[in-house]
Amino acid sequence: MLLETDTLELLAEGLKVLESGFAALPPAGGGTAGHERMAQVMSEVAARMRDNYPYFHPQYVGQMLKPPHPIARAAYALATWINPNNHALDGGRASSAMEKEAVAEIAALFGWERHLGHLCGGGTMANLEALWVAGQLRPGRKIVASEQAHYTHPRISGVLGASFTAAPCDGRGRVDAQALEKLLEAGDIGCVVATVGTTGSGAVDPLAPPLRLRERYGFRLHVDAAYGGYFTLASNLAPSTRESYELLGQADSLVIDPHKHGLQPYGCGCVLFRDPSVGVFYKHESPYTYFTSSELHLGEISLECSRPGASAVALWATQRLLPLVRGGEFAAMLEACREAALRLHERLAADPHWLAPIVPELDIVVWAPRSPSARRSSQLSQRVFDAAARQNLHFALTRLPVRFFARTEPRLEPDQDTVLCLRSVLMKPEHRAWLDRLWEILSRAAQEALES
Ligand SMILES: Cc1ncc(COP(=O)(O)O)c(C=O)c1O
Repeated sequence: MLLETDTLELLAEGLKVLESGFAALPPAGGGTAGHERMAQVMSEVAARMRDNYPYFHPQYVGQMLKPPHPIARAAYALATWINPNNHALDGGRASSAMEKEAVAEIAALFGWERHLGHLCGGGTMANLEALWVAGQLRPGRKIVASEQAHYTHPRISGVLGASFTAAPCDGRGRVDAQALEKLLEAGDIGCVVATVGTTGSGAVDPLAPPLRLRERYGFRLHVDAAYGGYFTLASNLAPSTRESYELLGQADSLVIDPHKHGLQPYGCGCVLFRDPSVGVFYKHESPYTYFTSSELHLGEISLECSRPGASAVALWATQRLLPLVRGGEFAAMLEACREAALRLHERLAADPHWLAPIVPELDIVVWAPRSPSARRSSQLSQRVFDAAARQNLHFALTRLPVRFFARTEPRLEPDQDTVLCLRSVLMKPEHRAWLDRLWEILSRAAQEALES
């Protein structure tokens, strides 16, 4: 069996327990009409869904995609029988409490006992809220993030009406601290975004320089750890990477996405603020929603109104099963992913067919076929990507500035500004055991690409 189905049994058992909590209600016809028609539609849905890359399988080693943990899948599905809305306690009492508990456990990862935070639709929404709060505190000032930061930052800045400046990176995709300081000297910067785990290559911006500079220039430091945040639990980070993780708790706000490395279905981001008093910016009256309790309704501290309580239920269940602790089972999964990335990088760096310019800081590996010029190397990347896909091995592609190659391959002719590279997010722990097989297919694909 390729697809996990234990979830179905868990779900059936869980539903019995759930239903027993409502036994005092008169029967209301729980069955559904038209089973035959639904079965037909379901079969159509399943057939349509076959038109996807096999994200659940170790031979999908492309984008940041992996299946949710079975407990998350089961808990999410169970919650939809109630369909709670975490906007207000009136719409989802249990799931709001579970969200507060789960978010507090995430905040504790960064040493924050007091915090303000909540779940939201994903990394974009979470970053939007953090940058919006920064704008409330430093109105009219600019936002700076590195040239390797996620494209959402300039877009969000546009939405918020703030100007955005991109700071240059060093050859490893991390923000250049001296260049950042020059931008700060020019003045007018209200928020610096550091990325802990860039989308392209998993680079971790050093946090010591912006923290030092914050004292002098008084900006807010926001950390986009949407992808990399959970790696704070991993025991096998390089010392320079670990240094940034140790400083995460000093940021003013943080974003971490449970729907990336947190084993959750999509629709689960998380924004956290170190100082809970920023809640004042969310203050609003609602004539519709906050009636049944004087306790905090999550809609009172969130820009989104209706939100799926099911996301909180799934996250709570996952963290119950796999606590967010160092040395635990969840941490071991992250460590396996990182080790898989290091091993793949080592093989690539030792093989004369490849250029592997960046030692992975997390579990993302980027490489390109060795060739005399950036243009030719890019063409070959595309060919290897296509050839591997034909053999059911699915990578992603990304573009890196050609100067990132200068250290490891000074002879590469820079006949264009960027090199199209193969990119692998090794975010399934199974990838470690699958490495030989992945390598074998990659080597065959490379041979095919070179011969074509
Ligand atoms: C570092 C980083 N920030 C923000 C985002 C945007 O997150 P989302 O796609 O969940 O909106 C991503 C997505 O890959 C990311 O890697």
